[in-house]
Amino acid sequence: MSVLIRGVRCYGEGAPVDVLVQDGQIAEIGAALAAPAGCDVIDAPGQVLLPGFVDLHTHLREPGREYTEDIETGSVAAALGGYTAVFAMANTTPVADSPVVTDHVWARGQQIGLVDVHPVGAVTVGLGGTQLTEMGMMAAGAAGVRMFSDDGVCVADPLVMRRALEYATGLGVLIAQHAEEPRLTVGSVAHEGPNAARLGLSGWPRVAEESIVARDALLARDAGARLHICHASTAGTVELLKWAKAQGISVTAEVTPHHLMLDDSRLADYDGRNRVNPPLREASDAAALRQALADGVIDCVATDHAPHADHEKTCEFAAARPGMLGLQTALSVVVTTMVEPGLLTWRDVARVMSERPAEIVGLPDQGRPLEVGEPANLTVVDAQASWVVTGEQLASRSANTPYEAMTLPATVTATLLRGRVTARDGKCPA
Ligand code: DOR
Ligand code: ZN
Repeated sequence: MSVLIRGVRCYGEGAPVDVLVQDGQIAEIGAALAAPAGCDVIDAPGQVLLPGFVDLHTHLREPGREYTEDIETGSVAAALGGYTAVFAMANTTPVADSPVVTDHVWARGQQIGLVDVHPVGAVTVGLGGTQLTEMGMMAAGAAGVRMFSDDGVCVADPLVMRRALEYATGLGVLIAQHAEEPRLTVGSVAHEGPNAARLGLSGWPRVAEESIVARDALLARDAGARLHICHASTAGTVELLKWAKAQGISVTAEVTPHHLMLDDSRLADYDGRNRVNPPLREASDAAALRQALADGVIDCVATDHAPHADHEKTCEFAAARPGMLGLQTALSVVVTTMVEPGLLTWRDVARVMSERPAEIVGLPDQGRPLEVGEPANLTVVDAQASWVVTGEQLASRSANTPYEAMTLPATVTATLLRGRVTARDGKCPA
């Protein structure tokens, strides 16, 4: 089976070319290539060709909350969003704290075949924060787990975090921290600041995140460990990352599309769709995050795709579950916040949405150059198109998008995983 992608601009640069994909690889790149017999042709004149996106942070809810999402609906959303690999967080029911769960998630993702679903293993048993999981067994299982996180909650105990970093270093796996000092966020539902005060919402102060980022950077330094910071949300976290990187500490960080674009002025109507953890911060934080992503202080974009059912969102703000859909809107939000203002080029988009995430987690076949002989994990983007976001029309089982009714730029017109078309013109092949 071969696929000919016609008229694309690699990384949005240079003259349009044709790209021939055969046997799961890029076989040829050139002008006016002939289509072999039986070849599937994708006409994409002037569209942008990028390496398939890699999401280090997504919640697919299987097992346990399949009424909000499962690996199948989440895989469809991922393929339509241009992703070829996603990392599914461990805060499922049961928690992904043993190979029984992590191997199921991996196998189910492979069976569906739309995107590589890499399970994230829990750092502590049941996300309980006290007893380390058998990370080695999850790493050695069929899923080959390479990232561990208690995301949803913080590994708050410094001794547990220290041991986790030491253990992970020995195994060559990555610890990703949801940085939230729980003693500073008891009862918190919104960013602590003038908006929350005026609206009568309990505040989640920046220092709850920053104190853990600082602490864990020091723990990583002493353990000679690698540390990844999930969903950086404050200007102070950016300063700490700059400092840690300047010291040679092996720390990387992600930012979500919603923290790049939205701020806590959106809370004024108490719409539960805007509740998220960490919370939407102030406009000045969002500006600092955008600059940090442009400068490489923040390494990559990760969606924190977090589906919730209507009844879990359409309620009083403090009772709404935190989280927002992200897989199908991530690219468009990155284009709005980063490409259109000139902070990132399309080549940089490849870096922050594909190459860096693949490197951080050590995926050898993702985030590869657009060159002959490389695996054909590819995303085709129509940069000239725009679309109106409608939660009900997204592929996820849930509809909790904060971008409802917004017109956003750029659509994914095709996604290829190892040379197979997994999404095309807004649909996944049957
Ligand atoms: O908003 C969030 N939702 N933040 C998290 O850390 C967890 C996530 C979820 O699982 O819904
Ligand atoms: Zn989190």
